[in-house]
Amino acid sequence: MNDKQIVAIHAANYVKNGMLVGLGTGSTANYFIEELARRQRDENLKVTTIASSTVSMIKAQSLGLNVIALTQVSEIDLYVDGADEITPDMTLLKGRGYDLVLEKLLAKAAKQFLVVADNSKLVSRIGTNFAIPIEVMPMAWKAAKHSLEQAGGVGDLRQNVAKDGLSVTSHGSLVLDMVFDKALSEAQLNQLINNTPGVVEHGIFYGLASAILIAHEGTVTENWA
Ligand code: A5P
Repeated sequence: MNDKQIVAIHAANYVKNGMLVGLGTGSTANYFIEELARRQRDENLKVTTIASSTVSMIKAQSLGLNVIALTQVSEIDLYVDGADEITPDMTLLKGRGYDLVLEKLLAKAAKQFLVVADNSKLVSRIGTNFAIPIEVMPMAWKAAKHSLEQAGGVGDLRQNVAKDGLSVTSHGSLVLDMVFDKALSEAQLNQLINNTPGVVEHGIFYGLASAILIAHEGTVTENWA
């Protein structure tokens, strides 16, 4: 078993009968979905799930999990998802996989949000390995980009995988991948991007994680807020 699988299985032990569980997106979250389906099959665990992306919804349904829509509920019991970067103050960078709008909605709606990762995701500050993905309304991308540049941001619209057009998210937004001055704290960056008109959502998850679960060489460490 690799570290992503170990931490995902560890997190699945927090799921109890009758819970409404948010499913993340990515390779670590996939292991969690598989373990949840296994527990449903082998241990008769009763759960309802909500997926943070179409790809996770299809995976969960194919494994026999009951998936409902966020429109049906206002609160969920537990959300388990990976991250692209994790800082010591438990700020996350998410959204390399385009699905950050639903991911942040689930993180906020969850009574508990467990972040699962291997230790390659630990960084000292957000933006160490990746630009910050910022979803913008298509009609507002120039205005939003200009506002963010005035605040010291540098970046451009994300290209699609084939590099022959623009990347469009599940919600019809364009994505600005922006790098900011290292002097800005996670809290300042979060506030700055939140306050930019035309921004639909962005990849900084500030003050949302209940716990960070990190697997390293087979051992899981938990850090609770
Ligand atoms: C998806 O949009 C991201 O927020 C993921 O949570 C992130 O990319 C983690 O992926 P892995 O578990 O594959 O590293």
